[in-house]
Amino acid sequence: METQRKRVLSGIQPSGNLTLGNYIGALRQWVAEQAVYQCYFCVVDLHAITVPQDPAELRQKTREVAALYLAAGIDPERSTIFIQSHVSAHAELGWMLTCLAPLGWLYRMTQFKDKSAKQQQESVGAGLLNYPTLMAADILLYQAHAVPVGDDQRQHLEFTRDLAQRFNHHYGETFVIPEVMIPKAGARIMGLDNPNAKMSKSEASEYHAIYLTETPEQSKKKLMRAVTDSFAEIRFSDEPERAGVNNLLTIYEALSGQTHDAIEAQFVGKGYGDLKKAVAEVVNETLNPMRSHYQKLTQDAGYLDGILASGAERARERAEQTLDLVRERMGFTIPKR
Ligand code: AMP
Ligand code: TRP
Repeated sequence: METQRKRVLSGIQPSGNLTLGNYIGALRQWVAEQAVYQCYFCVVDLHAITVPQDPAELRQKTREVAALYLAAGIDPERSTIFIQSHVSAHAELGWMLTCLAPLGWLYRMTQFKDKSAKQQQESVGAGLLNYPTLMAADILLYQAHAVPVGDDQRQHLEFTRDLAQRFNHHYGETFVIPEVMIPKAGARIMGLDNPNAKMSKSEASEYHAIYLTETPEQSKKKLMRAVTDSFAEIRFSDEPERAGVNNLLTIYEALSGQTHDAIEAQFVGKGYGDLKKAVAEVVNETLNPMRSHYQKLTQDAGYLDGILASGAERARERAEQTLDLVRERMGFTIPKR
């Protein structure tokens, strides 16, 4: 029965504090998909090191992200939760796929262009360029049918599909070609201080992001200070000057589940202060149960360790099957076990 269900895989980098963007774009969908798919959710620490990380902080954030998966409602009985670096097959398949990935494809990735532009050209790590091949390995190892991510990952998913097709073409049918799954509302939550940039966990400024682990008061304070405009009109819009209000409305839409029309009707005659208050309320109502669950989890390190150990074991089993198939197809000798 288990093997007949379609599979989902996704991951988040432990490179900072998880944000409302991670929740709406990724985590929330994951929780829902457990009912339908056989799910694998990993903490992608090998991806985090494509930009410099402090070792102690990386270790702590890795555990924190795993605990947040549980706190958000990922059920370790139904889904496999693990840390990417605990399953060495990711790095191995990553290398094999690196040898198949055309440099031209890699140079075209917008994430590579953005992140490398922020660094001195000669010191940009090769890992940053190869980031998408490792992500392809994550997905293809589990023969995932679907990958739930936010809108910013669309291009990486296209890359994964192209690379899988290239492999299948060279070596014969091997990989399932995965579909991208993007949420209808909230696929790109923007920064509160700068609504023309994506809300990101690695942004330092204090009023940029809502963090899943902050206090309700902190979330409210940030939302009340969110950048808006001087139009004094509450409606959805794709005009850049109205991006702040549109972002608040989008958050409201994603968390309240109401339609555009109903939301706009609700705010007729109201001011931006009212909108911000309503958004703060729905944000905290959504995040508070997760926050208290997370607090409990931090008091029981052994429980989390146990989940991660059995998750890695389950993941390894599945990943090794695929890796053997790849070894076979590529002409490696299969190790005797
Ligand atoms: P990252 O934080 O880059 O590791 O992203 C982890 C997951 O969260 C991916 O599926 C992203 O697409 C999603 N995500 C990150 N930031 C946002 C955002 N601002 N809006 C929507 N989804 C996001
Ligand atoms: N690149 C993704 C991000 O930054 C994280 C990621 C790594 C991922 N491997 C993955 C997402 C596999 C989905 C599937 O958001």
